[in-house]
Amino acid sequence: MNILLIGGGGREHALAVKLSQSPHTGKLYAVPGNPGIAEIAECIAGVDLEDNAALVKLAQEKEIDLAVVGPEMPLTNGVVDAFAAAGIRAFGPTKGAAELEGSKVYAKMIMKRYGIPTARYEVFNDIGRARVYVRQMRQPFAIKADGLAAGKGVILTQTADEAVAALDTIMQDKAFGEAGSRVVIEELMTGEEVSLLAFTDGETIVPMAAAQDHKRAQDGDEGPNTGGMGAYAPAPVMTPELLEEVRAKILRPLIDAMQKEGRPYKGCLYTGLMITKQGPKVVEFNARFGDPETQVILPLLESDLVEIMLACAEGNLAETPVHWSKEAAVCVVMASGGYPGPYAKGKEITGIDAAKAAGCLVFHAGTKKTADKLVTDGGRVLGVVGRAADIKRAVAKAYEGVEKIHFDGEYYRRDIAHRALARQA
Ligand code: AMP
Ligand code: GLY
Repeated sequence: MNILLIGGGGREHALAVKLSQSPHTGKLYAVPGNPGIAEIAECIAGVDLEDNAALVKLAQEKEIDLAVVGPEMPLTNGVVDAFAAAGIRAFGPTKGAAELEGSKVYAKMIMKRYGIPTARYEVFNDIGRARVYVRQMRQPFAIKADGLAAGKGVILTQTADEAVAALDTIMQDKAFGEAGSRVVIEELMTGEEVSLLAFTDGETIVPMAAAQDHKRAQDGDEGPNTGGMGAYAPAPVMTPELLEEVRAKILRPLIDAMQKEGRPYKGCLYTGLMITKQGPKVVEFNARFGDPETQVILPLLESDLVEIMLACAEGNLAETPVHWSKEAAVCVVMASGGYPGPYAKGKEITGIDAAKAAGCLVFHAGTKKTADKLVTDGGRVLGVVGRAADIKRAVAKAYEGVEKIHFDGEYYRRDIAHRALARQA
């Protein structure tokens, strides 16, 4: 069957690799794709991912049997509904269900209504009232723009003055645009964070290997937030007992809630969890695969991703095998120097073949092909993944690959998976 993959980052490269391995896959297309994806799929440039009609038209032209949506924007924009209206199967939630990611206020309201554990919160449309609230209440807070803000719309504050400054940034200066017209002010939770992604057809829930992301730019989790500097799976913090607790207290009630609300959730549900002293609590829901979590999770999937995605779309996930390798995977992101601030582009990249020959997977994120070479074209350039029997060996394998790859100004963290290694030591 013909498959259309929407997106062009490291996550989509990992998806493309897995999709291309399925015997069901005929022609694989990607919009816009990237130079890594282009090795296994036909990439199509010049389609606006926010234009549902253009995406449907493309799918019709290419006789697509399954559309796979990577990023959140087309999902919250209703592309899955548009595909459904045109009779095209798609993997991903509808616009209504994707609101779990598109609106933090909606996600918190669902969790409150159905008793799903999460940080206590209040919602404000009015900056004056919000200022009074943060001055009166016990610190510290997480202050969040309601809408999509490319993962950047959250400010953690320790003091009332910091909280007021954060409100000014979000609501007055509109640093995240209209996403900041409403804010959620939450109590700050403490604990270890872990990402749990799950396949679901709206009823059956199949969790994937738990993963941990590294959001901060520098070693020791210092420096500014980024799109993610690395990841590993499986995360040992997610014990089998904890997974059962998360399933019973969070995943099952949430999927049942979405049914009751008339917005059945199908696709990949990403649950960001904080493992607090009182147990697991939800930090956020995302309506899609995580980046860079996908780059470590999918290489551990032994079953056919196309069959699983079709089952999610058609409602027979319970009868579909989903098996995982017993190995571990670690992804080190190689970024352009300066990222997440300003950085240079167009630097020649060498050594990818050597890293692959050493046994690593190399996923492209911000790369571009010129007439005769591959050059950097973004902040996060590549994700280098090592797979091995355990996390420690997978870390060594990933860095072995990283050592072989070079571009001017390359920057990467040297402590990916430090929490897992500390736990095992
Ligand atoms: P979000 O976009 O909601 O995932 O928030 C981004 C990051 O901010 C999360 O990954 C957490 O590290 C942190 N964060 C968000 N909300 C809270 C909270 N209530 N308590 C502690 N940390 C939080
Ligand atoms: N790794 C965080 C995210 O995908 O939102």
